[in-house]
Amino acid sequence: MIRKRSSLIFCGAFLFITWNAILVLLLWGRPPPGPPGPPGEAGGEAGAGAAARPTDGVVGDILRVADMLETELKGQKEILLQIRNHQSLWEPVAGDLGARGDAPRRPAIPILVIACNRVTVRRCVDKLLQHRPSAELHPIIVSQDCGHAETAAVIRSYGEQVTHLQQPDLADVAVRPEHKKFQGYYKISRHYRWALNQVFRTLGHAAVIVVEDDLEVAPDFFEYFRALLPLLRSDPALWCASAWNDNGRDGYVDASRPDLLYRTDFFPGLGWMLVREVWEELEPKWPASFWDDWMRQPEQRRGRACIRPEISRTLTFGRQGVSLGQFYDKYLRYIKLNTEFVPFTEMDLSYLAEEPYRQRFEREVYAAPLATYQDVKQGQLSGPGPFRLQYSTKESFKMFAKNLGIMDDLKSGVPRTGYRGVVSFLSRGRRIYLAPPPGWTRYDPSWS
Ligand code: UD1
Ligand code: MN
Repeated sequence: MIRKRSSLIFCGAFLFITWNAILVLLLWGRPPPGPPGPPGEAGGEAGAGAAARPTDGVVGDILRVADMLETELKGQKEILLQIRNHQSLWEPVAGDLGARGDAPRRPAIPILVIACNRVTVRRCVDKLLQHRPSAELHPIIVSQDCGHAETAAVIRSYGEQVTHLQQPDLADVAVRPEHKKFQGYYKISRHYRWALNQVFRTLGHAAVIVVEDDLEVAPDFFEYFRALLPLLRSDPALWCASAWNDNGRDGYVDASRPDLLYRTDFFPGLGWMLVREVWEELEPKWPASFWDDWMRQPEQRRGRACIRPEISRTLTFGRQGVSLGQFYDKYLRYIKLNTEFVPFTEMDLSYLAEEPYRQRFEREVYAAPLATYQDVKQGQLSGPGPFRLQYSTKESFKMFAKNLGIMDDLKSGVPRTGYRGVVSFLSRGRRIYLAPPPGWTRYDPSWS
């Protein structure tokens, strides 16, 4: 791509110079208006005898030059138009904030807040308003399901600061009897489809950050997503950026590295960004329920990864939710929210691109010395780390994960935060890679 870009620029410049050279030659080489006389006489023409042919001489010359200039400018315009038409070829490579064609350099990324019947949506919206750098760049759209009047009043209280949408279909979703207890998940899924269609189709946005009403965002939440949009657009092996680290509890993350980012094969959700192209791909087959686990299936993920941070940029305060706090008291409530602002948009994030990232990651993981479970568990590791703890069955993965305090569930065979089977976390101050044997090739969807 870089080669293509420079050759195009070179061609453009070459044609431009050629045009100018031709023009200069034409002007120099044009025949004189009258019969050639001695050089000294030229000045005299303007004197006594010059009055005889004023139109043929000076005006005619000017008209000819004007004609030539007109043709020449047309030619140059053509060249410039051609150059502009080919701009899309190099734009993603140039790392221009993902702008294509005539899109602005700093595109708006709206925030979609998914709300229902909890007035505590106020905590979510207050934090968004507190931390957002600009109302123009980050319009806030609160989409409300459930028709709950009190929650609607809270959302309306923000006036012009937020756009309030209301999901129109409040009827129960028809489900088979044994799924009655999952009605909530059906409604969530229906709401997501409707709200994302509003954002992308009705409002015409090109990207969005989805936030649920029980999430609170970190000070650099917007900065993080702004910085990642160009990468999300240019890397076809990425399909989301998420603010969430599923294993981001205090003591399991490196507090000194709020700048650290990873690729993960596990779709984390909980404050995540997607672009329109991904929505257009998912929308026609959007599921009736359990949308997040559906996203984690290989048919949807298609080998793509998300970016996630070492330290979460969202915190969830929703103990009472549709899943009845399944994980809340055990894990979610302890996930640490980042407090230090990291200027991601000023940093070089090219190391996150697929090829270089994978190579570096695998080198780092598989160069790390093997440790035994006992040594990790008892903190008897000598040296600064990192260390590798190997698992080769679903059972050993689950046993290690459970006993070391990281999440042990797998979705479609992928462990939470996993990248190529590897889960990276801190244990007693040492970096541990819980990793499959070298030569990993694929996930086994039967591991659950
Ligand atoms: C869990 C997930 C959530 C996911 C959901 C669906 C966590 C912590 N949460 O929801 O990310 O979207 O499963 O698989 O992993 N809502 C509606 N309509 C309803 C009920 C709820 O729109 O009828 C909205 C809520 O406002 C909220 C979202 O759906 O924004 C999730 O609801 P919540 O009650 O928080 O359920 P969780 O158990 O957290
Ligand atoms: Mn929730």
